[in-house]
Amino acid sequence: MKIFIDSADVKELQTLAQTGLVDGVTTNPSLVAKAGGNIFDGLRAICAAIPGPVSAEVVAADYETMLAEGRKLRTVASNIAVKVPLTPDGLRACATLSKEGHPVNVTLCFSAVQALLAAKAGATFISPFLGRLDDGGQDGMELVREIRAIYDNYGFKTQVLAASIRTTLHVRDAALAGADCATIPPAIFKALYKHHLTDAGLESFGKDWRATGQSIL
Ligand code: G3P
Repeated sequence: MKIFIDSADVKELQTLAQTGLVDGVTTNPSLVAKAGGNIFDGLRAICAAIPGPVSAEVVAADYETMLAEGRKLRTVASNIAVKVPLTPDGLRACATLSKEGHPVNVTLCFSAVQALLAAKAGATFISPFLGRLDDGGQDGMELVREIRAIYDNYGFKTQVLAASIRTTLHVRDAALAGADCATIPPAIFKALYKHHLTDAGLESFGKDWRATGQSIL
């Protein structure tokens, strides 16, 4: 499963890129607002730090303006993927942009039939929002499983990008469900490394080693 980081914080992304484990980035208007600064400067820096796809979202609601915004965002760097919302205009823009050769991430997906439409519109990625479904008392992960099954039934190439991830268990379950990618907030990504038995094991190995009085270097 590809690991994307869900953030527009340039410094944080530059640091996380050093792990060698980051395959891409997703941003959205809220994340850009939170990071502050100019959207184009931020995207340029992120695209330079991380060679994988960096999703940049249109903010217009109508087809023509979405197309213009999408084409402009794509001039920032060759690894930009245009993010469009799952609306009739968004899917129409998705089809046009995809035909022009632009990678498109269809966002704000909350149902399997929406995901079916996105695949038919030629989306490169579909972003089901797990956490927001869970927040509303639904099973977000079930949506990922449904989309996986539908895409496999028909051989759709659209990649399932599990989004709105809130916990490390979401990451595990998305991988078990066969999501192609998960976009993970920085704090959850860092938590993926953690296990108390790793810490305890490291401490006892260190104690035993120090007692030998030896040095490897
Ligand atoms: O990138 C969009 C998505 O991951 C948003 O997550 O936490 O705002 O529901 P969240």
